[in-house]
Amino acid sequence: MPRLLLCLLLLLSSQSIFGAQPGTRVVADFNQGWKFYLGDEASAKEVAFNDAAWRKLTLPHDWSIEGKFDEKNPAKPEGGGLPTGTGWYRKTFTLPATAGRNVFIEFDGVYKRSEMWLNGHSLGQRPNGYISFRYELTRYLQPAGKPNVLAVRVDNSAQPDSRWYTGSGIYRNVRLVTTHQVAVDEWGTFVSTPAVSAQTATVAVQTQLRNATGAPKTVTLQTVLLDQSGREVARQLTPGMKLANASATVSQKLTLKNPQLWSVAKPYLYRVKTTVLTDQKPEDEYETPLGIRTCEFAQTGFLLNGQPLRIQGVCQHHDLGALGAAVNVRAMERQLEILKTMGCNAIRTAHNPPAPELLDLCDRMGFLVLDEAFDMWQRKKNGQDYHLDFKQWHQRDLEDQIRRDRNHPSVFLWSIGNEIREQFDSTGTRLTRELTATVKRLDPTRPVTSALTEQEPAKNFISQASVLDLLSFNYKHAEYPKLPTSFPNQKFLATEIAAAFETRGHYDLPSDSMRIWPKDGKTKLTTGNPDFTASSYDNAAPYWGATHQAAWRAVKNSPFISGAFVWSGFDYLGEPLPYPWPARSSYFGVIDLAGFPKDAYYLYQSEWTTKPVLHLLPHWNWRPGQIVDVWAYYSQADEVELFLSGKSLGIKKKGADDLHVMWRVPYAPGTLQAISRKAGQTVLTSTVETAGPAAKIELTADRSKLRADAKDLSFITVRVLDAAGNLVPDAANLVKFSVSGPGFVAGVDNGYQASMESFKAPERKAYNGMCLAIIQTKEQAGAITVRAEAEGLEAASVMLSSTNMTVQTGNLTPRPPLPRRGGAKRQTARN
Ligand code: GAL
Repeated sequence: MPRLLLCLLLLLSSQSIFGAQPGTRVVADFNQGWKFYLGDEASAKEVAFNDAAWRKLTLPHDWSIEGKFDEKNPAKPEGGGLPTGTGWYRKTFTLPATAGRNVFIEFDGVYKRSEMWLNGHSLGQRPNGYISFRYELTRYLQPAGKPNVLAVRVDNSAQPDSRWYTGSGIYRNVRLVTTHQVAVDEWGTFVSTPAVSAQTATVAVQTQLRNATGAPKTVTLQTVLLDQSGREVARQLTPGMKLANASATVSQKLTLKNPQLWSVAKPYLYRVKTTVLTDQKPEDEYETPLGIRTCEFAQTGFLLNGQPLRIQGVCQHHDLGALGAAVNVRAMERQLEILKTMGCNAIRTAHNPPAPELLDLCDRMGFLVLDEAFDMWQRKKNGQDYHLDFKQWHQRDLEDQIRRDRNHPSVFLWSIGNEIREQFDSTGTRLTRELTATVKRLDPTRPVTSALTEQEPAKNFISQASVLDLLSFNYKHAEYPKLPTSFPNQKFLATEIAAAFETRGHYDLPSDSMRIWPKDGKTKLTTGNPDFTASSYDNAAPYWGATHQAAWRAVKNSPFISGAFVWSGFDYLGEPLPYPWPARSSYFGVIDLAGFPKDAYYLYQSEWTTKPVLHLLPHWNWRPGQIVDVWAYYSQADEVELFLSGKSLGIKKKGADDLHVMWRVPYAPGTLQAISRKAGQTVLTSTVETAGPAAKIELTADRSKLRADAKDLSFITVRVLDAAGNLVPDAANLVKFSVSGPGFVAGVDNGYQASMESFKAPERKAYNGMCLAIIQTKEQAGAITVRAEAEGLEAASVMLSSTNMTVQTGNLTPRPPLPRRGGAKRQTARN
């Protein structure tokens, strides 16, 4: 992402921005010093408007997540049951002299229907809440040192507009960018690698230059490739280019000897440094990430750098649980770390362009990304959704997405839409051709697909367009075997599988009886659990979905399918199927909303990684004599033996198609122990003990050394334990948090999908023994102590340190410098 790699990053207050000597290009964080008002106030666009009483805040900001759950909120439970509405943001700032420079403001996403004014002048409107955009401010700016007023109206009042939680507000980052009048244009580079071998790689660089001087200019374009350590590895100079008073595109080719390839296992990143010079004086400097890799979809599967790679992906919505939609890089990084440990190697950005930082992280951490544009075209899924804007905006939105994201090595596939209703009528054919052509014009290097449901060619007007590079299907795994004959010579991908329901730590017996909730498209669910839970035995799914095991097994046994994206990686806010209110977040995640793995996590880990796995479930607190199914997910072993309080309950082995083993055990309190063995040798041991009464709190911080940048986070897992240290599997104690030092509670959660507690309160009830506190740093460095107390339990605390030094997070590769869906009725295209 250019701006992360660019030049100088200045932290802004509402005062000075560039310092005395502006560089060639200055990219400044513009998130601080905003005023916010929740409500509509037409005169707030006027400079003279008095915003003294408005709330001060720092972006990114999502006002919905701060609100109260209410069934009557117009976004409905499907939208997360939180408030939406209209809000205003204002920021007053001064700039030093900008003569001879162009000044832009860049937004990564505003949900939604934003409209902006600078010093009372309209800058424009942007309905799409997920798209990045910029406005040029230059001509409306006040002279140096005089205050400028930027006013932003955000209108998320027309509801319902989404099938999931969207958040409301300026929820992604904002930057102020100034350039000289001769500069690289917005998203003005396109790097690709038309020829790659172990010995050499050709790097093609297209650079779009902008000349806003009003007169022709002669410029030199210098492009330098830098390796991960910053060492120059290739360069090309294109001198004497005549730049008329407009923009022009320059093509260059560079050759790189012995390239280091980018892969999911070793995501090696180069950088392309672009310098624009006039009379040997640099006018602009701009950096673009570069990963050298080849991606190929074949009828026999996907190949990365010529090697077969099964796509082991998950679909992810954009919210960050208790933090709502407000972008936080560490929160996204944590999600990816958890997914990486599961063996996930690909993310589908369901169903919209992601925050650009997500792509930066995927480049750096080694994930493939299916970058998706739309959840609907002209035909709606909700009355107030993007179908209202599609006609006027889709071309522009799609172009902007492609131009923004096409340099990321992680992005390996574009999707022009998810379960689009035009699949069922001839407009689908026309629009598929149009949208695909738009993508190909801007990026001829990557394949284009669309997530489809209709597996009969005669009924599928999107596949009939015959322009998609591969056909991607959601669900209906039982029909996979027919695909190669229904669609001869095509390549396939499963864009959604499973959609199984699970509530962490909840188990419905017997484990081998399925809960199909709802059972079909006509019957309203009346049989769910009264406490709005779903079983973690992987035995609950809606009629269109399947268990994780059945779905993954089908993909595994279909070598012509390149891989799959599980619906979904994490639980997300909204779409609380199969339940009505007070359920308000999804049950589909392999990981709950708080980031705690559900049992299915270990199923995937046992299938998707080569490390030995042994995961035993459920907990061991039942009614005496109750028949309990004990499961183990395991890998890298031949067999598993189960013992109850030292007595063997037998050895089990997975059959060819099995993904777990099971013992049916009459419950007696004690210790359940599983031992996995390979060739008679113990590989792993896993134990679950009957827990006694809750006695104490245990706190575990995912990271204790933090950056004092007012953004960094520590995710603190709270476990309620008995006196012997066992997790109490039904503990629901109210845990109260207090923080001393330069940190604060940014959010709390427990992963329970029907909790009405606030995500922002400094307390949370444990759910099935666990909850989470998210601690955010401030700009001051210092020691932070987080204490957790609950009535009747021994309290606990954890020490964190927040410093001004750069702290490497996680186990990452080195960082370069740098429709109503309520009840049973589904309204999306499915038949
Ligand atoms: C799919 C849809 C997803 C989600 C999922 C739940 O049809 O594409 O957005 O709604 O169903 O099963």
